[in-house]
Amino acid sequence: MSAAPSSSDTDAPGAPSDALVSVRGLKVHFPIKGGVFGGRTVGAVRAVDGVDLDVRAGTSLGLVGESGCGKSTLGRAVLRLSPITAGTVHFDGTDVSALSGEQLRASRKDMQMVFQDPLASLNPRQSVETILTEPLKAHKIDFDKRTRVGELLDQVGLPGSAAQKYPHEFSGGQRQRIGIARALALEPRFIIADEPVSALDVSVQAQVLNLLEELQQQLGLTYLVIAHDLAVVRHVSDEVAVMYLGSIIEQAESDDLYDEPLHPYTRSLMSAVPVPDPEIEDARERILLQGDLPSPADPPAGCRFHTRCPFKQPTRCDSERPELLELRPGHRVACHYVEEIARGEITAHQLTAEDVAARA
Ligand SMILES: Nc1ncnc2c1ncn2[C@@H]1O[C@H](COP(=O)(O)OP(=O)(O)O)[C@@H](O)[C@H]1O
Ligand SMILES: [Mg+2]
Repeated sequence: MSAAPSSSDTDAPGAPSDALVSVRGLKVHFPIKGGVFGGRTVGAVRAVDGVDLDVRAGTSLGLVGESGCGKSTLGRAVLRLSPITAGTVHFDGTDVSALSGEQLRASRKDMQMVFQDPLASLNPRQSVETILTEPLKAHKIDFDKRTRVGELLDQVGLPGSAAQKYPHEFSGGQRQRIGIARALALEPRFIIADEPVSALDVSVQAQVLNLLEELQQQLGLTYLVIAHDLAVVRHVSDEVAVMYLGSIIEQAESDDLYDEPLHPYTRSLMSAVPVPDPEIEDARERILLQGDLPSPADPPAGCRFHTRCPFKQPTRCDSERPELLELRPGHRVACHYVEEIARGEITAHQLTAEDVAARA
């Protein structure tokens, strides 16, 4: 890694030595206003509610979970685009959650975001050239316009003639390439891609994911890739973190997580993904995820997942919040009974797909 951390900074507690980004105890609570004139705070949406996360330099961490579980808010808080209620975010040894003013602005150069909907995130009245040079101007960086714009377009696989066009003149996939080029303009080291292919046709999703992978290799980038779709995240991630109602409930190397999901929530997410091999498809476990995500304004006590968990046990699950603990090397899970469930001593007591089929 390049810039040495300044002497006043220390790494986040317990962070691996190659962590580029370390999040500790992060909370983002949005106040709910009420009262007659709406001026009183009557509660809070706990969008992010105690997250610890490390992203190793040069790797890609996938962040998955149902819509509304807090993924975007977490990503935005890391970039300081959402207010941080509590906790810290370290970037290369600097606590960026404590920065303000010019220092914060300077740190933003290193961390960029690619958004879900390129049409909504690109100004329709700006040419591609203006879109790509704006970040450079904002950071007062000297550049030769034609050369830099040409380079950026080339990096994302668009022709130089794209520079004078406007966002509406491109397809969805091409527009996302422009969004990626804009994120690259300042030569960041860390990119958060928030559902980068969710708005795209399935046929172009793989192309954009491949581009992100190529750029990572060429430029040595570090990624946080957010998706609600497990298949998307598997494709691009070295490690995967699963989020549920404001916190991380499981994290492991990608293959470990997909081969042996341990948390009941991850198992139910996995069991919803069809397997191409018919023999495996017939034999595999199916756990139906029942009910909706509870409101983050009024999250369940104890384990946040207990209201939907097919393995829920009396007392402990609805009273004590499980910690994210390392169960196997590099594989962390937040579940009181994960060992018993893995050994088959506690079985699902909810209707499985087979049950439902047998009763039909
Ligand atoms: N600015 C905001 N003010 C109030 N609530 C918000 C705000 N942004 C997000 N939320 C709420 O926080 C929760 C998490 O949202 P979000 O981070 O967008 O989830 P995800 O990206 O996983 O779909 C949701 O309940 C959402 O309604
Ligand atoms: Mg989101």
